This record gives sequence, C-alpha cells and structure tokens, in this order.
Amino acid sequence: MQEINDGNMNFAFVVTNKQGSNQSVFVKQAPPYIKVMGEQWPLTRQRMTAEINALNYQSSVCPEMLPEVYYQSEALSVVIMQNLSQHAILRTELIQARYLPRLAEDLSTFLAETLFYSSSFALSSLNKKAMISKSNNQDMCKITEDFVFTYPFEHHEMNDYNPALSQTVIDSIQKNPNVRAHVAQMKYMFMNKPEALLHGDLHTGSVMVNGLETFVIDPEFSFVGPMGFDIGALIANLYINYFSHAHKRSVEAANYCQWLLQTIDDLWYKFEAKFLSLWAEHELSIQSPFMGKDLTGGTHQTFRQAFLQQVLSDSLGFAACKMIRRILGVAKVADFMQFKKDQKLRAKLETQTLNMAIEILVNRHAYTSIADVNKLAEDLVAV
Ligand SMILES: Nc1ncnc2c1ncn2[C@@H]1O[C@H](COP(=O)(O)OP(=O)(O)OP(=O)(O)O)[C@@H](O)[C@H]1O
Ligand SMILES: [Mg+2]
Repeated sequence: MQEINDGNMNFAFVVTNKQGSNQSVFVKQAPPYIKVMGEQWPLTRQRMTAEINALNYQSSVCPEMLPEVYYQSEALSVVIMQNLSQHAILRTELIQARYLPRLAEDLSTFLAETLFYSSSFALSSLNKKAMISKSNNQDMCKITEDFVFTYPFEHHEMNDYNPALSQTVIDSIQKNPNVRAHVAQMKYMFMNKPEALLHGDLHTGSVMVNGLETFVIDPEFSFVGPMGFDIGALIANLYINYFSHAHKRSVEAANYCQWLLQTIDDLWYKFEAKFLSLWAEHELSIQSPFMGKDLTGGTHQTFRQAFLQQVLSDSLGFAACKMIRRILGVAKVADFMQFKKDQKLRAKLETQTLNMAIEILVNRHAYTSIADVNKLAEDLVAV
C-alpha cells in the first residue's frame, strides 16, 4: 500500500496485490477533518457523500471519463476505484507544455453531458427537485463562498500575496467598488442558481490524462449550481497556464500558447454544439419536460441561443473569480509557484492574469465569442 500525498483534504492510497495478479486500486477516505491541517481543523464527512453521489451520476452519463468505482460506503466515507497511476494530472502536463490533442473534445463532452442531463431540460421538475435535495453539500459550498468569493476580495488574514505584487494592483480589486459589486453578483449566483449537478472544483488538478484518455476526478465539492461555474473553472486554469508560458521568448512557447488558446476556443464551441445537440435530440425523442411544441416556430431556437449566451457570460464571471482567488487567496497554483524564486517575474504574470480577470468579470456580458477573450489575453502579454 502506498500513500498518495499530493491531495490536502483526504487520505488517498494505491493498494497493490503483490502476491498474485499485481492488480491495484485507488482508495480515498475522508476523515472528519482536513487531512493536512489535522484534527484541530474539523470538516464534516459530508464531502464524501457528495463525491460518491457525483461519481455515480457522472459515470451514469459519461462513463468513459470516470474512473470505475468498485466499492463505495457513505458510512465509512470511503470509495475504492480504478487506479489511474499511469495517467498524469493535467496541470502538471500543461506546465511541462505537453500537447493533449483530445483535451477539448473530451472535456467538452464531460461538460455537455453532465450539465445537460442534470438540467431542467432533461429532468422532470420533480426529479430536479429530488436531485437538488440529494446533492446538498453545504459545508463544501461554504468553503467556496469564503475562499473563492469573499476573502480574496478583502484584506483578510487567510489571504497570501506574492510580496512583489504591487499594492496598487491588489487595491484595483479589493478597493474597487465596481469589481466588488460584480463579485457579489457572482457569489449570489453561485448560491442561488441551481441549474445542474456540478463537479464543483473542475480545475486542471481535477483531471488526469494520458495522450489517449481523459478522466475527471475529485468531485467532493459537487452540488446543484450554475453551469458556468464548472466551465469557468477550466477556462480560468487554462488562461493561468497560458500566462505562465506566454512570457517566454521561444518559438516552442509561442506555439504552445497558440495551442492553449485554440483549446479554450474549442472547449467552449464544442461544449456549446454538444449541449445544443443533446437539447434538440431530447426534444425530438420524447415530450420535452421543459417546453412544449414550438407552435410559433423559432421560439425554442431563440431561447436556446439566449441561454447559451448567458452560460458564456456566467462562465467568464466565474473564471475571473477563480483566477483572482488563485493569486490573492490562500490556495496557489503550481503554474505560477514554479517561479517563486523569481517573485518579480511571478508578479508580472499574476498582474497580467488579474487585469484579464477584472475585464472579463466587469464586461462579461459584452463578450459573445471566446475569440475576443483570447485576443484580450494576447494583448495583455504584448503590453
Ligand atoms: N483514481 C485515481 N487513481 C490514481 N491516482 C489518483 C486517482 N484519483 C486521484 N489520484 C491521485 O491522488 C491525488 C489525491 O486525490 P484527490 O484529488 O481525489 O484527493 P483530495 O484529498 O480530494 O485532494 P485535494 O486536496 O486536492 O482536493 C490526486 O491529486 C491524484 O494524484
Ligand atoms: Mg479534493
């Protein structure tokens, strides 16, 4: 048995049968506290109930991207699943500038399928309400409310700043009434928009890959919330990775940055196309639980387009909050921390990211295409 130590919250082990087949499994157990902090930081084991619930739901709609679950017990707060040790964490691969040709295709499928099939476009009103009450994950939601939407936007003792980051830049967020009002809108949406069963923490550390396969892991923050929260989490972390490469002068880095931007573009457009196609198929194959027959013609189409535009602007708003919290909040990302011996360089990349976040937060409704968001990222690097 080998303990895996790159997670913070829970115990994780790979257990191998050394006598016989050499088969192995991955075991994860939630103690009633945060593992790395110890027993003086209590946290209920509700997170494992939420993780089990989400793993069951996600593998029912998108089995090819979920580790197979062999055993689960809410009472023991434990889950035993397929060992993915031959796969790498996506964030690590992106930091090493690895090309992953399947990434946008696979992640857009995961997003479209998990978000569509738990939405009111696929579930009856009754089943949707049942899903909401079954997926209550209040303790983890509170952590997100505090650490993503609150502390980074005020001068809070839980924050952690790069000492080289200018106070003017920090103030342009924490002391900017307009930014704070928009963050309040995003926090309110997070708390009050039960659109779909979310993964809840879909950053690039929650995805494991090899060249051929993509797996999504660790849905312990899962709850029924706004679709843009999962999409925004991925987009935020891909742009963070973009800024971590874009300052390099080499042709290789420039090519990699183009691949990253293309991946973000593909991720959104493939998601949109797949979500719309599931929606159209669903309305044709059964009586839609959401809208009746399109008697006037084109009504459904108009509604669908407006809906997806709203998901895009929500995604940008949430992406912004996620980008900011990784810089001003306590939880850092290796994409930037790899430069901690050169805090000035790190501050430069963080400032580019923060400036991008402010723009896509405040003007999120004005963006109708990812191409414009990509252009913004490129312009910020060129300054
Ligand atoms: N099915 C799996 N097979 C092999 N390794 C895995 C598997 N799932 C996760 N891991 C590895 O174990 C680590 C911890 O897993 P996970 O992220 O689920 O735990 P966690 O305690 O919730 O972590 P965190 O504090 O990051 O939320 C992952 O970063 C990954 O390296
Ligand atoms: Mg986790």
